[in-house]
Amino acid sequence: MKTAASEIISESPEQTARIGRSLGKLLEPGDVVALIGILGAGKTCLTRGVAQGIGADPETVTSPTFVLINEYEGGIPLYHFDVYRLSGADDMYALGSDEYFSGGGACLVEWADRVEECLPEEHLRVVITVSGASCRVIRLEARGERYCRLLEKLKHPGP
Ligand SMILES: Nc1ncnc2c1ncn2[C@@H]1O[C@H](COP(=O)(O)OP(=O)(O)O)[C@@H](O)[C@H]1O
Ligand SMILES: [Mg+2]
Repeated sequence: MKTAASEIISESPEQTARIGRSLGKLLEPGDVVALIGILGAGKTCLTRGVAQGIGADPETVTSPTFVLINEYEGGIPLYHFDVYRLSGADDMYALGSDEYFSGGGACLVEWADRVEECLPEEHLRVVITVSGASCRVIRLEARGERYCRLLEKLKHPGP
């Protein structure tokens, strides 16, 4: 499988949201983004940007702590999972993850490392590390051809 990786430093929540917005503009139905990082890393902040990028209202994005899946309507549907409270992969399958991942929208999974075995082999991994009060290292890992192309476009946005 083809892979590629790239790191971006974010120095503010706004910058993280902007990175999310650029990503959101590139997402297509069937795309899967796995978000990994500790509580407060900025996963939801990035998701807000992604929602804006697909053309949805970023104000409607909340950490779905009790609701496990939120859906936002933009140019394409965006399914936002927060699996923090799931006990593991079995619960994720029970939610119908396979159908979501192969469905008519893009999927974004917070705490994706907790349900690793449910994820399709090919996906975009976004690992956010806290490197200061308002500083984050955002590592983008493309797994598979489709996501390598997506990563290239993210790094070199066209006109
Ligand atoms: N560079 C940054 N990027 C993202 N969030 C940041 C950054 N600097 C500070 N923050 C703060 O970190 C918190 C991230 O919260 P949130 O996105 O809900 O995290 P998570 O969903 O990973 O638990 C917010 O309070 C945000 O203001
Ligand atoms: Mg969150």
